[in-house]
Amino acid sequence: MAPRRKKIYEGKAKTLYEGPEPGTLVQYFKDDATAFNAQKKAVIEGKGVLNNRLSEYFMTGLTNIGVPNHFIKRLNMREQLIRQVEIVPLEVIVRNFAAGSIAKRLGLEEGTPLPRPIVEYSYKNDDLGDPLVPEEYIIAFGWANQQDLDDIVALALRVNDFLTGVFYAVGIKLIDFKIEVGRVWEGDFMRLLVADEISPDSCRLWDIKTGEKLDKDVFRRDLGNLTDAYTEVARRLGVMPTNTAQIKPTLIN
Ligand code: TMP
Repeated sequence: MAPRRKKIYEGKAKTLYEGPEPGTLVQYFKDDATAFNAQKKAVIEGKGVLNNRLSEYFMTGLTNIGVPNHFIKRLNMREQLIRQVEIVPLEVIVRNFAAGSIAKRLGLEEGTPLPRPIVEYSYKNDDLGDPLVPEEYIIAFGWANQQDLDDIVALALRVNDFLTGVFYAVGIKLIDFKIEVGRVWEGDFMRLLVADEISPDSCRLWDIKTGEKLDKDVFRRDLGNLTDAYTEVARRLGVMPTNTAQIKPTLIN
């Protein structure tokens, strides 16, 4: 990758560059995969291309049902133009079925339906390993106020209903997912938008019939080839580049 713009921020899976106009950024999807707060790392050929396409697909769908988000347009195989936002330092997690940390914490079998969707928050801080935090902390430390949190829960549940339906239509069960939320100001008026990405990196996706995992747990738990799993998700949703050779980085950069 030859950066031709000013780098604003580099995360584990994406890099942000200055955008062409004020208030915009270019979001570049890398092939890097990390798990367990980057204790496990790999470069997974083609992942960035798939996540760029998949995040475009979900964000565009959200726009079409009126859920505000940062996506403006896809620029190329690995980059999209987004609105610059001030990220709320929370990972907003929505769970429909027990899996991962909630299963462990509460001793639930993975796949157990939850009595209702559960929304929870982690404080975005890699040094601390993104600890789970209650609303009380969020408000006390000023990361968001009560009104913001009400809006964030409403956004998260709309995203949940949308994604649940989209995945169900292609035989995939949405177990849980994570979103990030950003602030934009329009004059004095502040609005919250869905930001970051929506992709199999940040969801748990199980095949409805077989229970096969089609998300980053394939990497976290060494269950097989991650690109194959993400390609299957993209194929079912009809967002896959028709020729899989196109996802080879040599053809993209
Ligand atoms: P968890 O069960 O490990 O708490 O994860 C819940 C959901 O949030 C799961 O879909 C994976 C996603 N997630 C992220 O996207 N980033 C993270 O750093 C973590 C811990 C989870």
